[in-house]
Amino acid sequence: MRGIRLCGSGAAVPATRVSNVALSQRVETSDEWIRSRTGIGERRVAAAEENLTGLATSAGQQALQNAGWAASSVDLILLATSSPDDLFGSAPKVQAALGAKHAVAFDLTAACSGFLFALVTAAQYLRCGAMQRVLVIGADQLSSWVDWSDRRTCVLFGDGAGAVAVEATSSQNDALVGFRMASDGSRGENLTLSQHAERQELLPGISAQQGGFTTIAMNGQEVYKFAAREVPAILQQLLDDTGTSASQLDWLLLHQANQRILDAVGDRFGMAAEKVLSNLAHYGNTSAATIPLMLHEAVSDGRIKSGDLIASSGFGAGLSWGAALIRWDGPTS
Ligand code: ACO
Repeated sequence: MRGIRLCGSGAAVPATRVSNVALSQRVETSDEWIRSRTGIGERRVAAAEENLTGLATSAGQQALQNAGWAASSVDLILLATSSPDDLFGSAPKVQAALGAKHAVAFDLTAACSGFLFALVTAAQYLRCGAMQRVLVIGADQLSSWVDWSDRRTCVLFGDGAGAVAVEATSSQNDALVGFRMASDGSRGENLTLSQHAERQELLPGISAQQGGFTTIAMNGQEVYKFAAREVPAILQQLLDDTGTSASQLDWLLLHQANQRILDAVGDRFGMAAEKVLSNLAHYGNTSAATIPLMLHEAVSDGRIKSGDLIASSGFGAGLSWGAALIRWDGPTS
């Protein structure tokens, strides 16, 4: 078995910012309510000429550049997203836009756990020797799928993309120290973006469904309780699995959904507030993009340094959740 090395990161967000104050012109809310309940101050929203493929491609391009890789050297592109431009998958379009002509590319859907699940999936291809280089991208454009008249959900989400270039290395230097993943579909109704099909008569006596989707529906309190319970539990299991103590962690890199969840998990592991990475104030919840977007920011501004140990956890719709213990080994500022 071989190991994996994280070689470079990248990120992209749309230029358009929508502040809490601006949103309060659209729904009955306030900057005070949103900030105090979630930590979010503003979010980015894709303009008419932008799309998921473009965001994912920009983030991927930057990760390739920071890793010093030619696009043609990539074997696999994994695009974690729940909001592709094309239901058949957006990853091949990203592959074409990057010029990664030797890469196979496909989408992976696990909502806000998507990036973490994709990173673990990439590691399996690399560890078994089937592949040498994988580009893992997390990208979502949930602005297209929220109900902008529903104040319980529309204030939470934003658009963005992040990427990490991952390559095979020796098992002694494995950057994926450990991982755990979980799903519980029986609680899935708490956070959905469901199909809405209209019946249409195809032939006499035979009808077919004309597909479409509703908007995001969430039971916020149940999702909050789920995250507050499962995230510390799975992180603790991972620390136990790997014989790691919380005091050895340099960073907590959680899915950016709510500052109160970040604070509670940070407190649970005795982490100083500045070690619990957060950029919620600027981007809100960008779903599959939050973890790589935050990682790239902290690597670029020099907070995360080569050799740092990062405990990461993703959680969200499915319900799905997971945790990974990662050692950053890419270039740092
Ligand atoms: N502005 C003002 N008032 C609001 C808003 C808003 N944006 N949203 C809800 N309210 C009101 C409600 O209508 C309710 O009013 P009422 O008592 O008169 O009925 C009151 O505020 C309290 O509503 P709650 O839903 O109980 O608010 P809560 O304190 O639970 O906060 C929140 C809501 C922020 C959504 C919280 O539940 C949360 O963060 N949950 C987790 C969500 C999450 O992490 N989701 C992402 C998962 S990731 C993925 O997979 C996509």
